[in-house]
Amino acid sequence: MATKKESTKKAVETKTANTTKKTTATKKSTTTKATAKKLPEIKVVDKKKVVFLASEAAPFIATGGLADVIGSLPKALAKRGNLDVSVILPLYSGVSSEFRKDFKFLISFNVSVGWRWQYAGIFYYEYQGVKFYFIDNEYYFKREGNIYGFFDDGERFAFFSRAALDTISRLDIYPDILHCNDWQTAASIVYLKGMYYGNEKFRKIKSVFTIHNIEYQGIFNMDTFAELFGFSENTRPFVEFNGSVNLMKAAIEMTDIVSTVSPSYANEIKDSYFAHGLENIIIRNERKLHGILNGIDVDYYNPETDKFIFKNYSLDNLEGKKVCKAELQKMLGLPQREAVPIIAVISRLVSHKGLDLVRATLEELLTGDVQVVILGKGEIGYENFFNHTAYCYQGKCVSIIAYNQDLSRKIYSGADIFLMPSKMEPCGLSQMIASRYGAVPIVRMTGGLNDSIKNYTGDSGNGFTFRDYNAHDMLFTIKNAVRTFADKTTWADVQKRAMETDFSWNFQAEKYEELYNK
Ligand code: GLC
Repeated sequence: MATKKESTKKAVETKTANTTKKTTATKKSTTTKATAKKLPEIKVVDKKKVVFLASEAAPFIATGGLADVIGSLPKALAKRGNLDVSVILPLYSGVSSEFRKDFKFLISFNVSVGWRWQYAGIFYYEYQGVKFYFIDNEYYFKREGNIYGFFDDGERFAFFSRAALDTISRLDIYPDILHCNDWQTAASIVYLKGMYYGNEKFRKIKSVFTIHNIEYQGIFNMDTFAELFGFSENTRPFVEFNGSVNLMKAAIEMTDIVSTVSPSYANEIKDSYFAHGLENIIIRNERKLHGILNGIDVDYYNPETDKFIFKNYSLDNLEGKKVCKAELQKMLGLPQREAVPIIAVISRLVSHKGLDLVRATLEELLTGDVQVVILGKGEIGYENFFNHTAYCYQGKCVSIIAYNQDLSRKIYSGADIFLMPSKMEPCGLSQMIASRYGAVPIVRMTGGLNDSIKNYTGDSGNGFTFRDYNAHDMLFTIKNAVRTFADKTTWADVQKRAMETDFSWNFQAEKYEELYNK
């Protein structure tokens, strides 16, 4: 986390460094091409190449934070100018036709999946300085509704992981770094370090495996080892865990570098409370473990330009935020009062988001002068609870069971306080987005929440925090925030600190670059 001042200073330094580099390059070419009338455009040809593999990326297809990261980190890296950046994704039927119509078909080939060969068509699209390759196979990726949760997910991502490596060799786009993300692309590392290792070009590739959430590991019956995944026998000790195929474990063991999405989470996953069984694997591989906090795309999440919100605003002029609040209240059937704080929860409704704490204390919270807005979907128990509470507290509590970008922006911009009491949170992006829109976060001190939000003390801090996973600790912290909200001067200060925090990729992308250079 860096303050705006620090980040500007750093940005200036980086800019100066880049300019110096460029000037030297220009000078060199001036001397060598002294006779040429017009200087040729200088192209850096020896850039390091990185290829990302992921199962989702905004704006093409998004179901969660992973998509935000893959939609923004490669872009930030490309923008820095030192790397040639590509991303390989599955071409789901859900990829919007707005983009799809401009995709260029490159080649097709067959990919080995267990005992079968499956078609792969490769489409290409350049977007925001990044080269995107989409792997088409309608049998695997033309599905209704969600992009995960099918009986054959193992097979779908075995196909994708193998097809991605074949795309690299067929198109001769061998990178220096292969950057895989989460279990869906973990098998690529097993292929890279096992079956494909005989090919010298593959052998030279270094791999980074990023854990976005250790809870989802890609665990399959051991029968799938050779039959479905076609893994080579020498990789068995890495792949097998507790008598099953465990793709995340395999990737952690076999990759050159493991990273996770915040320094605190990198530390936490050495502990069985957080590691979902993989703590000893993490400890064993600790020497290659790094934690880099995610950033967000600050151009995309920008209250000054956001098209979804009722009125644009900025830190210097918050008048628009008042309009956003009043319009949100009107839209949700809440009394239009400026003096009452709107507390928002925007989250997948699953247990690790800390919703049991909310469930235990929501009624008590609603006895005070507050308005509570919940947006999200997930486990039926939470959905029912929030709907029921909203029904009982009409005019004070609203629950919307949906995943909705448009509405989420209207809530971020209209809310005063953003509640994120996660039990576990590898990084979390919502607290960063909320800060950017001036909804002051209340978070539990875990994972990336701990690394991005500091408790407000008057002199420092950009939100409110509590440590223990305890409902009344949370309620106490909320009440403290509500009390602070009533004091306009103090509130303006904490809100300013939240909005000023630099959650852009500027620094973080540099850290990934350092990792690639290791
Ligand atoms: C996962 C994590 C979340 C993180 C996101 C992006 O969804 O649960 O904490 O922010 O990945 O890395």
